[in-house]
Amino acid sequence: MAAKNLAIADNELSELLSHYSLIYLKQYWPELPDSPVGWADNAVLMLAYQEAALAVQRHFKGRPLRMLDVSTGPALAPLLAMATCVSEVQLSDYYGDNRRCLQNMPIEYWKNYVPMLIKIFNHPEKKATEILALLDKLRSARVPVEVDLFRDPPFPVSVKPHEYELISMQFVADAITENEKDFLRCLGRITDMVAPGSAFIMSAAVDCSSWQLGQFAQPSPNISEKTIVDFLASQNFEILNLSRSMRHAGLAYSGGWIVLSALRSK
Ligand SMILES: C[S@@+](CC[C@H](N)C(=O)[O-])C[C@H]1O[C@@H](n2cnc3c(N)ncnc32)[C@H](O)[C@@H]1O
Repeated sequence: MAAKNLAIADNELSELLSHYSLIYLKQYWPELPDSPVGWADNAVLMLAYQEAALAVQRHFKGRPLRMLDVSTGPALAPLLAMATCVSEVQLSDYYGDNRRCLQNMPIEYWKNYVPMLIKIFNHPEKKATEILALLDKLRSARVPVEVDLFRDPPFPVSVKPHEYELISMQFVADAITENEKDFLRCLGRITDMVAPGSAFIMSAAVDCSSWQLGQFAQPSPNISEKTIVDFLASQNFEILNLSRSMRHAGLAYSGGWIVLSALRSK
């Protein structure tokens, strides 16, 4: 892809973002399609996030939701897919560089992901510029906070998770653990924070033994969909909807993914 075709020049991004944030974005959320298979996987993923947020919004009868996102990374695409359901959001990440990236990167980076949102929630007439402006407003309203899933509690005491109608966590517990026990411990730290009557949206790689970060293979705990669903049931969650990836060769991870929305009953 010629550099002149990029809305945001590579060198401009390199100055703004740390090496880690940039590598992650380029591999999983590139500004422009760099591989047809990866771009198609992202399109299905964006629709899965949109469906999950719609299911939660329907449950709350259209009421705008306050959302706490666990380890947003440098990626605003999941929030973009949920943006019109959310009235305010608290973003977070373990790494300071990702937290700075979330605040500072040009919002236009995400413009090619807007057309993936075919429903644009209940407002199909909304223009791409309006959706990006909404995303920019949401990400700028609060400074992202630090989070560590290996610590109890994971968030600083200033964050009150029970005040949020929706807690979300995309590809985190599965990305930072190597076995089922640690995965469920990290997931449990977050599900414990969901108040009775509140909702949870999560995604995770399933049947996955490794994922790439640049040239390095990262371990994955090889979790099954059933393990996640059974765990949530044991924690009094009712699944509202669940989407599965199409599985293609040539992706930067093995196996597939699921995205689900769930409601905590008590
Ligand atoms: C695979 S990325 C997912 C990022 C983003 N949610 C997404 O869907 O693109 C995993 C994230 O976990 C974060 N992370 C690493 N160690 C962590 C820890 N101990 N506690 C919480 N998050 C951590 C990383 O900074 C990174 O943003």
